[in-house]
Amino acid sequence: MFMPKLPLVSLLLLLAAALALPSFADTVSAPSAEQIVAARQASLDMSVITFSGMQNAMKNGDEAKKVSYFAKALARWAKVLPTLFPPGTGAGQQPLPTAALPDVWSNRAEFEQRAADYAAATDKLSALAQANDTAGFTAQLPEVKKACDACHKDFKQRD
Ligand code: HEC
Repeated sequence: MFMPKLPLVSLLLLLAAALALPSFADTVSAPSAEQIVAARQASLDMSVITFSGMQNAMKNGDEAKKVSYFAKALARWAKVLPTLFPPGTGAGQQPLPTAALPDVWSNRAEFEQRAADYAAATDKLSALAQANDTAGFTAQLPEVKKACDACHKDFKQRD
């Protein structure tokens, strides 16, 4: 039977190359403060677009399940929102303008609470959409809006 044989030296070289490969953890570097601010602002812009999309759907007489993907996406975003406000991403701490007030960091427990309230409101919205409870969904939309506004009131600079 034919058995190709690699010279021992090739095997050793292959092994050395494999060991020299960086692990995935090594290749991911932390995003800069500026990249984090850009990411959260883009996501917040998309939040308003997502929210209006759901409002418009209800105005047009659509069923809640038609926008269940919208609601699910907002609920997912609500859970990661606070992680995109790490210390060092405030005004004057990185190059981009930001409307995040210093209270986001100095009153962190309250900020996290507003984010948790928002996550709970969007989770409920998403469950109502999944169940195709259009009346419940329509009634929950202003509750979600209240959660946005409750956070903006204390943690976002007014436009
Ligand atoms: C837990 C707090 C919190 C919640 C909840 C929240 N936001 Fe915000 N939002 C902020 C903060 C803080 C900023 C300022 C971010 C910055 O400029 O870096 C902001 C900024 C924004 C912006 C401006 C983004 C830009 O382009 O600079 C929009 C639009 C927005 N939010 C929409 C919403 C909508 C819609 C909801 C609810 C569906 C919502 N937000 C929920 C805290 C929150």
